[in-house]
Amino acid sequence: MTTPLSAETIAIVKSTAPVLMEHGNAITTRLYEILFERYPQTRALFANAATDQSVKLATAVAAYAANIDHLEALTAAVDKIVNAHVRSGVQPEHYPMVADAIISAMGDVLGAAATPEIVSAWQEAYQLLADLLIAAESRCYADQQA
Ligand code: HEM
Repeated sequence: MTTPLSAETIAIVKSTAPVLMEHGNAITTRLYEILFERYPQTRALFANAATDQSVKLATAVAAYAANIDHLEALTAAVDKIVNAHVRSGVQPEHYPMVADAIISAMGDVLGAAATPEIVSAWQEAYQLLADLLIAAESRCYADQQA
């Protein structure tokens, strides 16, 4: 069950949207480096990934931050992500790996600007998005089985 985000978390995440927009590519590039180094088993999932994958992920993360207080604006984007994930075989157990990589990447790229408050707000916000994607993806996998 997804816990709703507190007003404070929403405010912090929203305030980071511009900086994510600015450093989005650097953060996602670093994210993939960390992900493949710490969790080499995820590499195969990206075997057929588009070359603009890191740009798409950066854009999605920035859009998520900007729309955190009205997530219904992201429905179309979420559908596309779910389809891409199901095509690639992404599973619930992969989400904590990306969480670890994204939080470490933010720290590496943003340095001192990634304060403990920002990191903790992002951990919560990531979890909310992850829960939403995992639920939608498990419905797709169940449909495929039927
Ligand atoms: C909240 C977390 C995540 C977000 C916001 C996210 C976002 C995205 C986006 C925006 C795309 C591109 C969709 C499109 O083609 O339009 C994508 C594709 C993809 N994602 Fe994720 N993702 C997340 C978690 C994960 C996890 C946990 C994995 C597995 C390690 C993963 C693996 C992939 C793969 C393999 C693709 C397909 C790449 C391709 O075929 O081009 N993602 N994701």
